[in-house]
Amino acid sequence: MKKVVLLYWGKGGNVEKAANTIYQQFDPEIIDIFPLDNFNVENLDQYKLVILGGSTVGAENWQDATNDNMWNNFLRKIENKDLSKLTFAAFGLGNQVLYPNHFVDGLGFFNEEISKTNAKVIGKWPTEGYSFTDSEGEENGMFYGLALDEDTEPELTAERAKKWTDELKKEMGF
Ligand SMILES: Cc1cc2nc3c(=O)[nH]c(=O)nc-3n(C[C@H](O)[C@H](O)[C@H](O)COP(=O)(O)O)c2cc1C
Repeated sequence: MKKVVLLYWGKGGNVEKAANTIYQQFDPEIIDIFPLDNFNVENLDQYKLVILGGSTVGAENWQDATNDNMWNNFLRKIENKDLSKLTFAAFGLGNQVLYPNHFVDGLGFFNEEISKTNAKVIGKWPTEGYSFTDSEGEENGMFYGLALDEDTEPELTAERAKKWTDELKKEMGF
């Protein structure tokens, strides 16, 4: 049985690229990876750590309640489940140069939604070294998860992914 599942959305861009980079930090024996449209929520209980990855592409992407919004679909399905044995961590793609007032806001959305459940949340990440003015994804100098900027700092992604996943592994005792 695998211990970790990495769920990401959307496909074919920076989120998928970052998802693969994060996936590669783990022994393939212990991790599964799925785009959100290819994962059955009933299988969530098998895992210990759930890593969620997405990007910030405007508030409507996160908050609209339409049926075709993948994250809303997923979050609605898990909100009534007992997630007390699960630990969640999130990573978020953003662009701090073009969107300095909303850098990785999506991490705040993940945090808000997962905090409504009884799951544990880990994986906060220092804001030090990033350049932005405001973010719903940070509190007291920490992002709610790993912030990645493939648009303006792609050269830092591998190192950030390694450090972050080292922390996750340590906390989980993997
Ligand atoms: C329409 C649009 C809106 C965006 N809004 C934000 C934003 O509010 N905050 C942010 O940090 N990045 C924002 N971005 C940047 C994306 O999050 C970033 O380019 C990300 O890497 C895209 O991932 P993808 O290639 O998987 O779609 C926006 C990008 C687009 C195209």
